[in-house]
Amino acid sequence: MKVLLVGSGGREHAMAMAIARSVEEPTLYAAMKYKNPGIAQLCEDYLLVNETDLEKVADYARCADLVVIGPEAPLAEGLVDVLDHRGVRAFGPTRKAAAIESDKGWARSFMSEKGIRGCPTYALFDDLSDADRFIKDNIDEEGLVIKPVGLTGGKGVVVINSYSEGKDYLKTLRGPVVIEECLSGEEFTVQAFVDGSVLAPAPAVQDHKRAFEGDLGPNTGGMGSYTDKSYILPFMNKDDYRAAVTIMQDTINALKSEGITFKGILYGQFMLTRTGPMVVEFNCRFGDPEAMNILPLLKSDFIELAESAVDGTLKQADYELRATVCKYVVPAGYPTNPKPTEITIDTDHIDAALFYASVNDRDGAITTTTSRAVAVLGVAETIENAEHQAERALQFIKGDVFARHDIGKKKLIESRIEHMKRIRDA
Ligand code: GLY
Repeated sequence: MKVLLVGSGGREHAMAMAIARSVEEPTLYAAMKYKNPGIAQLCEDYLLVNETDLEKVADYARCADLVVIGPEAPLAEGLVDVLDHRGVRAFGPTRKAAAIESDKGWARSFMSEKGIRGCPTYALFDDLSDADRFIKDNIDEEGLVIKPVGLTGGKGVVVINSYSEGKDYLKTLRGPVVIEECLSGEEFTVQAFVDGSVLAPAPAVQDHKRAFEGDLGPNTGGMGSYTDKSYILPFMNKDDYRAAVTIMQDTINALKSEGITFKGILYGQFMLTRTGPMVVEFNCRFGDPEAMNILPLLKSDFIELAESAVDGTLKQADYELRATVCKYVVPAGYPTNPKPTEITIDTDHIDAALFYASVNDRDGAITTTTSRAVAVLGVAETIENAEHQAERALQFIKGDVFARHDIGKKKLIESRIEHMKRIRDA
């Protein structure tokens, strides 16, 4: 069986590893922007290509039995539609279904019209001067959230606490925005295989968006993430997880009732508030880094899940119940002023899983780009031990780089539990 993977990040390296473990013993091909050395090593052949160049990717996919698409951009552009048209099986949502991520204005209107629980109060503005006026009239001590409606690589969502902050941010934007109430609580992610009707959810993950320790600094694509040894995280309970999955299921059902069959991965980003989970956003693909937490725990066969999602015959997915801690290594200055740098990785001494992300590999010399470079993943019976394993691995990655050492540490986890307790008791 020939499988073509589209994408070149850490998420796609985790997907490539899961595909390579399949009992189908697939021959793997990749269409990627950069030569990810981890993916390249698992591949029979690869094509370096802009992943949104749909014609080129589809030409390369001609002989594939299945195409698995990692990033949102080619999904939003309609890669699955192009492949369908050419009779190539593809695992991922169509352009219309991917709008759940690529058009945040539509996603909110849809949730609201369909009465899906967990939709915050929001307003949609095509004209930024109307948005400016709205902020002036409505900003208070709770703050507001501004979201460009299109794709922003996870970095476009900004919380503002004053009119002048809002005004300054709007000046940097073009095109429509959604402005929402600012939710208080703890964020978590649930990722699920979906076949248009059935949802097979994975354990909850918590990502860390801020660049620096203590949740300080600018937003990033995600500096690292953890899972616990069950489906829930230390600050949540089973009902919170069930409520989140129900919201995702209701969304899939509502899409279906409108003739939109969502097949692929649905990523629900939730804020656990005093009244339960609220939807921060939906994405139409695995999270990065969150895929690196859950795919190594996947006991079910990835290809079987992907094919049954495409065929509409999905059953539940099984995961090993172990804790994981993932930490990204990024170039100095990331994300505002990153400087590409050469890094050395002493793989002989790393006993954690290692995922390559945005790097260039020239004859074994690894240089970062301006984005997240490599990630390490500890897997153990407890978050604490998984964190130790990830930290040990970080010592063997050298260069002008940094990572968030606080992710998964007892102090940070306890502060999350305390924070959630204060929110619930308020
Ligand atoms: N880690 C955030 C995302 O993948 O959107």
